[in-house]
Amino acid sequence: MAKAKKYFFCRECGYQSSSWLGRCPECGKWNTFDEEVVQAATSSAKSAKQQGLSLSEPKRIEEVTYDETVRMSTHCDEFDRVLGGGIVPGSLILLGGEPGIGKSTLLLQTALSIKDKRLLYVSGEESEQQIKMRADRIGSPQGEMYVVSETSTNRIFQHIEAVKPDILIVDSIQTINSEDIDSSAGSISQIRECTTEFQRYAKLSGTPVLLIGHITKDGTLAGPKVMEHIVDAVLQFEGDRNYGFRILRALKNRFGSTAELGIFEMQNSGLREVPNPSEILLSQRDENLSGAAISATLEGARPIFIEVQSLVSSAVYGTPQRNANGFDFRRLSMLLAVLEKRCGFKLGAKDVFLNIAGGIRVNDPAIDLAVACSILSSNVDIPIPPTVCLAAEMGLNGEIRPVSRVEQRIAEAARLGFEKIFVSRYNTKGLDKKKYAIDIVEVAVIEDAFRKLFA
Ligand code: TYD
Ligand code: MG
Repeated sequence: MAKAKKYFFCRECGYQSSSWLGRCPECGKWNTFDEEVVQAATSSAKSAKQQGLSLSEPKRIEEVTYDETVRMSTHCDEFDRVLGGGIVPGSLILLGGEPGIGKSTLLLQTALSIKDKRLLYVSGEESEQQIKMRADRIGSPQGEMYVVSETSTNRIFQHIEAVKPDILIVDSIQTINSEDIDSSAGSISQIRECTTEFQRYAKLSGTPVLLIGHITKDGTLAGPKVMEHIVDAVLQFEGDRNYGFRILRALKNRFGSTAELGIFEMQNSGLREVPNPSEILLSQRDENLSGAAISATLEGARPIFIEVQSLVSSAVYGTPQRNANGFDFRRLSMLLAVLEKRCGFKLGAKDVFLNIAGGIRVNDPAIDLAVACSILSSNVDIPIPPTVCLAAEMGLNGEIRPVSRVEQRIAEAARLGFEKIFVSRYNTKGLDKKKYAIDIVEVAVIEDAFRKLFA
């Protein structure tokens, strides 16, 4: 038996040190070191692994062949889209998300819907009965599906030997442990070891492996960087638990774009795909209430029209309250400062609450103008007509800046039946306005937008 050793690992980046350090020399974070007992693999185990790795030999690049059509469809368009067109054989995919967001549901549902394949679903969190109960709510298997409740990688590989699956799903990496090392499940060294074992299996057998990983409170994957560079794709499942919408994003994808986005709705019978999010997000709208503005945002290549709601009221207490839901709080403070300082709207003594409908978090800067106008609309208590949408970024001087792919936003706005779209004046060069069945309103500074909307 090899000797057990103690090491210290950085929680953030996985840096290993033989003594405790206050500051990680690798990532520069403070107070992130945890002690773990690590047992080196026995020499026989090691040589077996080295054997495994030397199975492939160098080839001339011309001789390497691959087949684009071998991507496996998950039979879920939203999932396929985020993966870049389906699951690539031999890939290791990590699905991260907060507890309770629906990761197990998503992968179980995917497992059930994949046709003509043999699947092994390993759960370290739920018993087989629990998995079955959940599966019964979602649907019946389209392929051959095996489930097992197991936490040891050694036994998981025995099950794999027996079942010989075409796809392996493991829920979750934090509950799995390898007997080669002696620290507890969920520790950095275990996560690293188990991920590496699954990676080796995926690469050697060509079987894709999907791993579920939990996210810590601050939004990083537990044992984050350690896994991120081992796996081929990192997908994140997110959403506000009080709403039904869930968004699947690719944070890293060796086989596709990270700009794509999948949208789902959590229902009683599992997750429903939402192919056309704008229509759903906008349909709940009551006409003519002040403080609401619609933003023509793009997430990846996909236009999503989102309603921004603001409530501006006189502060009851000395310090005004600010709250942003689904929008970066610092960016809200900045927009408020610009409205106050450059445009003279007195918001300093007002409470400002901002909400993005559907609990969706938006990264596109084109939402700025809708945020600013919804605040102004609530402030003056004049509604923005529901036939108007906006797409522009706002700068520190209140100038309205161009955004990417404005034609696509305009075309989508016209398709959805909007009558006017507000864009930056600098965004319309070379744009054939007559081509679109929508009125394109150009603005240069925020006062322009204010005048055109409320005067
Ligand atoms: P789950 O997939 O267990 O989350 P995770 O694996 O990310 O921790 O799903 C969590 C929630 O989803 C649970 O609170 C109940 C809800 N849910 C539904 O609303 N409908 C369903 O059909 C299922 C299976 C779950
Ligand atoms: Mg789960």
